[in-house]
Amino acid sequence: MCGIVAYTGSRPALPVLLSGLKRLEYRGYDSAGIAVETPDAIAIRKAKGKVSELVNLLGENNSLESSTCGIAHTRWATHGPPTTENAHPHAGGKNNIALVHNGIIENHRALRAKLTAAGYTFLSETDTEVLAHLVDSLYQGNLVEAVTTALKEVEGTFGIAAMAHAEPGTLVVARRGSPIVLGLGEKETIVASDASAIIKHTRQAIYLDDNDIAIIKGSEVDIRTLDAGSVSRQTSEIDWSSDAAEKGGYEHYMLKEIFEQPEAICNTLRGRLDSNRGNALLSGLNLSPRELADLHRVLIVGCGTSMNAGLVGEYAIEDFAGVLAEVEQAAEFRYRNPIVNPSDLVVAISQSGETADTLAAVREAIDKGALVSGLVNTVGSTIARETGRGVYLHAGPEISVASTKAFTSQVSVLLMMALKFARSRRMSRESGCQMIREIEAIPGLVQQVLDQNDAIAKVAERYLDQTSTFFIGRGYMYPVALEGALKLKEISYIHAEGYHAAELKHGPIALLEETVPVIALCNDGPGKDKTLGNVAECQARDSRVLGIVTEGDTEAIATVDDHIAVPACPLYTAVVPSTVALQLLSYHIARLKGCAIDQPRNLAKSVTVE
Ligand code: M6R
Repeated sequence: MCGIVAYTGSRPALPVLLSGLKRLEYRGYDSAGIAVETPDAIAIRKAKGKVSELVNLLGENNSLESSTCGIAHTRWATHGPPTTENAHPHAGGKNNIALVHNGIIENHRALRAKLTAAGYTFLSETDTEVLAHLVDSLYQGNLVEAVTTALKEVEGTFGIAAMAHAEPGTLVVARRGSPIVLGLGEKETIVASDASAIIKHTRQAIYLDDNDIAIIKGSEVDIRTLDAGSVSRQTSEIDWSSDAAEKGGYEHYMLKEIFEQPEAICNTLRGRLDSNRGNALLSGLNLSPRELADLHRVLIVGCGTSMNAGLVGEYAIEDFAGVLAEVEQAAEFRYRNPIVNPSDLVVAISQSGETADTLAAVREAIDKGALVSGLVNTVGSTIARETGRGVYLHAGPEISVASTKAFTSQVSVLLMMALKFARSRRMSRESGCQMIREIEAIPGLVQQVLDQNDAIAKVAERYLDQTSTFFIGRGYMYPVALEGALKLKEISYIHAEGYHAAELKHGPIALLEETVPVIALCNDGPGKDKTLGNVAECQARDSRVLGIVTEGDTEAIATVDDHIAVPACPLYTAVVPSTVALQLLSYHIARLKGCAIDQPRNLAKSVTVE
């Protein structure tokens, strides 16, 4: 998804802008550009493709090096294809204004018609160029006034950074729906859409709220709202290290993040389990004992991997707490007018905390009067702030587009929630203590799977040539099948579908043949015998079956064609090591196929448009 970096200060802007763009590459993009002040005009340079193309275009001794103020962008195409013309920054008027923008201007057609009639010529197909010309048309020597008036005419979402040739050293930035963070330096401010672009320079950050607009010159920051005067916004400390955002010696961020999972899960669990009371603390949920006891239903919303984690939550909450739980595709939530009661708890799950569909579901649930909580990784993100209550994952920054450690941390939090809800109802202290022991064992179980990395890479060699694969599981292993299939398709481009093991017979089995392998979650526990029966049905159609089995389960090992063993544990915790096994399998298949693992084609890390 698009990324913004902007700089105003006392040192050359260009290196800060370019290193910031490099830091944002993980978000997914298809073109990049910069605009910096020069004495004569605002200079804009743009290139299709990677940031390295832009660096090549700028050359080594370029004339823009002395500029101390500028804006930069990585674009992920929405309006118009990925071309140099459509790349940001866009100029307003005759280069009087330059602007970068994340989000979508929904009334861009009407505004374009109005500006064309007023004599403006458009060089791109983007909604952003419309905004740049609109600001120019309103500009009378005061950028913040022009931007404020323009943004009041705009329908849609935006995170923007703008500059005017007549106001050297000044940036105007604003947000509605797309994040903007201000990094506060000594004599400088670095603006970005994502804190990873600023941590190299400073840890002091201000996250703008929706409808905030800031005027920044060097280290002077004046934040206002679009409708009123100055406001003060809290400064927070970014608590993850610059190193955490680097690959740390691994070939890909994805592999690094897979291997970080034992530590990430420990961080997620730390201080949240009370072994004396056999309960989970999760004070951030901010639910009184009365609210807990009255809880009628837990509604879980999320997208992609976060939704798959939510399904594990649904099973565990019903299983342990006896509380009605449902998981729903966040994108569907606000359009189907769901029934939500004041005693329902809506749990929004999101790694980034910025996913547009999940945010829209949060706002719908708030409007419908539910208790709404966020289960989010990114501190200070919009979902975290708007829900006001919730649980941070503390999994550390997840850079790879394919989500791994966020999933296992999400599941860990959901299991703790199940424990907390169960203890407020029907679970005894002893059973609570037993559940804590089982949850606390998860990091060790994951480590045992990671120790098999080389063996899993060998298994992967046998699953490279297929064009299609089915993942099957039942009970707690059904969400694992969905997540395994999502991982494989997004990074290896092999068509993969997750199915309930019993559902295969109701249609998809028609597609099975020698070239279509099946990956079966056959962990030992209730339902295993039935899944082994399904495995036999697949083999009877010539499909090769790779089983995820419980260590030492000779029956399962004898049934499947290949296997990866996960340690023995209850099925509800086996979700985590089994998913890790499938993450490694997908990773190695994609690596052996030579795919762009950290930035798969067409995908963005954070989907901030509907
Ligand atoms: O940041 P979120 O958790 O809200 O993101 C939701 C999905 O976009 C995300 O999980 C996506 O499915 C990942 N690429 C999966 O690996």
